Amino acid sequence: MWLALVACTALAQDAAALYRAQCSYCHGARGEGGRGPDLTTGRYKHGDLFTTIRNGVKGTEMPAVRASDDDVRRLAEYVKSLARVDSAAVSGDPAFGHALYEANCGACHETVGPDLAGVARRGAAFVRESILEPGKEIAMGYRAIRVMVKDGAAIEGIRLNEDDTSIQIRDTRGQLRSLLKAGIVEIDRSKPSLMPSFAGRLDDKQIDALIAFLRELR
Ligand code: HEC
Ligand code: HEC
Repeated sequence: MWLALVACTALAQDAAALYRAQCSYCHGARGEGGRGPDLTTGRYKHGDLFTTIRNGVKGTEMPAVRASDDDVRRLAEYVKSLARVDSAAVSGDPAFGHALYEANCGACHETVGPDLAGVARRGAAFVRESILEPGKEIAMGYRAIRVMVKDGAAIEGIRLNEDDTSIQIRDTRGQLRSLLKAGIVEIDRSKPSLMPSFAGRLDDKQIDALIAFLRELR
């Protein structure tokens, strides 16, 4: 009896080791996502895990795994077990999240902020950090800038392009502005994101609800 138990533990370790060696660099150490999608949601768009892992997903980076059918079965079980890690965020209420999104996020994300469809694939931890510490990692092409021009006005927005003589900005109302550097008094790049931090404004339950809503925007 204890022999069977020992054998079981050894198998479980095998699956974790296989995952670490062949999957974690795309799906994250705990399945939280990265180059590949978040595997902690407990929902799988391709359905059967064995088939997906055995054959890969054609036309994407997801490769067919090089392992025996038994190992693939263990990997599928292991992937299922990753879902528990993120159960808090899965329990968020997407309808509540939608209302919070409309009230706090939508207006900006539909003018100057990036499209959030698919962002939840990068994992609940990433989305949580984006909401609490927006300046920590800036979405590509969304670096914020504030420019003071000679007539005294200040223009704040996303820096789109810049060369020696001019700079192009999408301002906070979504308008494209092209400014000659000769007319600029000062360029302030010290606040890297236009997004305000919601730390202290949204609690854990609200953030879980937002994550649940963003998951549906895949
Ligand atoms: C080179 C990066 C890469 C590696 C390595 C990789 N994956 Fe993936 N994986 C992806 C991508 C990208 C997708 C999404 C495919 C798509 O667009 O549907 C994916 C999809 C999946 C899915 C489907 C999820 C769903 O919603 O149905 C599972 C399950 C999965 N991978 C498990 C694994 C396992 C287990 C391993 C290791 C044996 C692995 N992956 C290795 C990139 C990778
Ligand atoms: C005033 C504008 C504004 C508001 C309000 C705002 N955001 Fe953002 N958000 C941005 C901008 C600009 C970026 C890109 C710069 C960055 O990565 O910080 C961004 C980035 C993000 C990202 C990371 C996207 C990526 O691809 O890396 C997430 C997730 C996000 N916002 C979610 C939210 C949520 C949820 C709310 C509401 C609670 C919200 N934002 C409110 C402007 C805004």
